[in-house]
Amino acid sequence: MSYPKPLNDKSFLINSANFDVLHKTVNADPDQFWLDKAKRLDWLKFPTKAGNWQFEKPVSIKWFEDGVLNVCGNCVDRHAEKTPDKTAIIWANDKGTITKNISYAMLLKEVNSMALTLKNLGVGKGDRVIIYMPMVPEIAYAMLACARIGAIHSVVFGGFSAESLAGRIRDCHAKLVVTANEGVRGGKVIPIKATVDSALQHTPEIEKVLVINTSDTKVVMTPGRDSFYVHEYSKEVPPEPMHAEDPLFILYTSGSTGVPKGVLHTSGGYLTYASITHQWIFDVQQDDIYWCTADAGWITGHSYVVYGPLANGATTVMFEGVPTFPNPDQFWKIIDHLKVSIFYTAPTAIRSLMQAGDEWLETSSRQSLRILGSVGEPINQEAWEWYFHKVGHGNCRIVDTWWQTETGGILMTPLAGVHNLKPGSATQAFFGIHPTLLDEQGNEIDSNPAEGNLALKTSWPGQMRTVFGDHSRFEQNYFSKFPGYYFTGDGAKRDDEGDYWITGRVDDVLNVSGHRLGTAEIETAATLDPSIIEVAVVGFPHPIKGEGIMIFAIPANHTTQNSNELKETIKRTIRSQIGAIASPDAIYIVKGLPKTRSGKIMRRILRCIAKREFEKIGDVSTLADPGVVDHIIKVFCEED
Ligand code: WTA
Repeated sequence: MSYPKPLNDKSFLINSANFDVLHKTVNADPDQFWLDKAKRLDWLKFPTKAGNWQFEKPVSIKWFEDGVLNVCGNCVDRHAEKTPDKTAIIWANDKGTITKNISYAMLLKEVNSMALTLKNLGVGKGDRVIIYMPMVPEIAYAMLACARIGAIHSVVFGGFSAESLAGRIRDCHAKLVVTANEGVRGGKVIPIKATVDSALQHTPEIEKVLVINTSDTKVVMTPGRDSFYVHEYSKEVPPEPMHAEDPLFILYTSGSTGVPKGVLHTSGGYLTYASITHQWIFDVQQDDIYWCTADAGWITGHSYVVYGPLANGATTVMFEGVPTFPNPDQFWKIIDHLKVSIFYTAPTAIRSLMQAGDEWLETSSRQSLRILGSVGEPINQEAWEWYFHKVGHGNCRIVDTWWQTETGGILMTPLAGVHNLKPGSATQAFFGIHPTLLDEQGNEIDSNPAEGNLALKTSWPGQMRTVFGDHSRFEQNYFSKFPGYYFTGDGAKRDDEGDYWITGRVDDVLNVSGHRLGTAEIETAATLDPSIIEVAVVGFPHPIKGEGIMIFAIPANHTTQNSNELKETIKRTIRSQIGAIASPDAIYIVKGLPKTRSGKIMRRILRCIAKREFEKIGDVSTLADPGVVDHIIKVFCEED
């Protein structure tokens, strides 16, 4: 099933009249194409060179390296000058009852004030600043203020625990934390500052904590370390001239090892890529009201709530709450209220709203919408069709955008005015992006249809540059399995027409509600309690979350806890080590795990059990204890 491209495609920025020309241009001379695109930004010194990269070891990736610019100047100052009254940010509170319009002129004032405050607290170029905050406008001000003074921000999602926060602070040797007294999400108050306090017990590197009061609630302040944010309009802080390759931010993401890695993005290439993809893929035009529902703590929040839209001088909506509070018509009501024309969300949100029932669509018309976006995980056909027919009344184009924290911006998507839509397919690569499918030996599979490991053959300006503080981990993770390529960790299919269908991770990374979690990370956390000897974590299909977390756990001999108590212990330990987002969906207490004689856990067997595909388990005779498989199946079936 496919939905043809629109007949009146000329109204789209990218359409059948310019698409082929653009394709030819980028393929004939990619460097010239990207230099041309860099002109979207204001540079203090325009670069003479575009890409300078190699995927062979030593891996090195640079874009626009002799250019000088400031990211904040590009997102704020230049628009404050040209379109001061245009709304930069529309913020909606948790209940959707209060909205605030922040013009570009006001944004400049606010960001300047935050930049001055950070400077007064001793933050300078290259210093790392952790931002741990709810979705209030100040989170964007803090990010932009760091960019303004050349500090490197690392936003940590407000749902991560104190332990996770401490780990990230330590890894990047941060100097200061920007936080709030508290947050509110889905009607629940989140004691953000208290979490910071407990993280800071183990992180002496933090010198200062800047606390933004989002409510009247009083919090404990540590003298000498903590200060409340007060507006500082006394002086202008000019944007610091930065080299294109100076770091802009670090964002931690899960990989297949136990410790999250600090993905490093730099300035000129990242912003060029976020800006062009935002405008062309979402077809953002002069009067559009654009809303991406992601939290600023994820890459989607960085590239497509803050940096891309603001670089383009667009109007971007920030929402404090969740899709289902107070009711599952919250998104739709906000769309009507703000006249949102472009809406970008995740399949997990779409599925949970679909499950709530079509009656929740009746309280809104959603007539203002023209483009719908999806991101974070493969979207199943049923959810896609509901999004298309019910939410968009069949009038909106859906862009299913595939990308990663590491890629900085979208790499694959249908273009609204050009491609036929296929429910569940991210279809084609963006301009200048060269995906390929590799077999296990690393050979490119040229024929169609095909299935293999998804890799990129060439670099693009938004690509991550390194793992902060560990370049060899960067090389090892992304460039070792298939030398000469960037390996994404995803598997994909290509159909007869050459369109791509992402099938999911091929490494030990789970995608739970569009959030990446390493199985090793969860296993490490779960075994920290002495009552648990060993666990194995696998994913299983979950109707709302996409993938759920299943744990098989072996208790310690000495434990006196019963099964239910053990399960609670595991949940509690994981929540405190990682956060509620890693909370397991199913736990089975077992006597043993399927291991080879050399002690390696055969997760494949556990995955079959988790999916109830017992017939696919196959030969277990090579296991150290083959009988354990029947035992696990028995526990699994008894508890179901
Ligand atoms: C998955 C989110 C299918 C994929 C921007 C990728 C998707 C991981 C899609 C990155 C999509 C993201 N279709 N799968 N449209 N978008 N993914 O780093 O497995 O949080 O590797 O970045 O999400 O997740 P991350």
